[in-house]
Amino acid sequence: MQIYIGSDQGAFELKEVLKKYLEGKNYEVADEGCYSLDSVDYPDIAKKVALKINSNPQAKGILMCGTGIGISISANKVPGIRAALCTDEYMARMAREHNDAQILCMGGRVVGTDLAKSIADVFLHTDFSNLDRHKRRIEKME
Ligand code: RB5
Repeated sequence: MQIYIGSDQGAFELKEVLKKYLEGKNYEVADEGCYSLDSVDYPDIAKKVALKINSNPQAKGILMCGTGIGISISANKVPGIRAALCTDEYMARMAREHNDAQILCMGGRVVGTDLAKSIADVFLHTDFSNLDRHKRRIEKME
């Protein structure tokens, strides 16, 4: 599976850890920045990843900033994108089963690295339920 990953400086270290972790699991990981601890604007990173997802619907995205809030709000401004801010595995499972989220968002100053790995594992391994009621609600979002 192709994964597009991105963060601002608030989650740069977490992105680096998660990138190596996912590459170790044989995911194809494209790093959309940032590439250092220098300050960047999280909406720019969110837009880059969101556009990649829209052009490659089989792929998944992982976006992180300090809290995960700014980058998730930004990604959700891109039509067609469902980006879910998750702080535990239950939210990650529901984000996939109920919301068919294509992008997982997390906060680098909120979750520890082990929890972030576990949240990402659940997100990437859970399929959309495909139930009519969830499909209807997603269509209404659009
Ligand atoms: C940057 O300091 C911080 O505002 C950003 O990482 C994020 O938490 C915004 O929602």
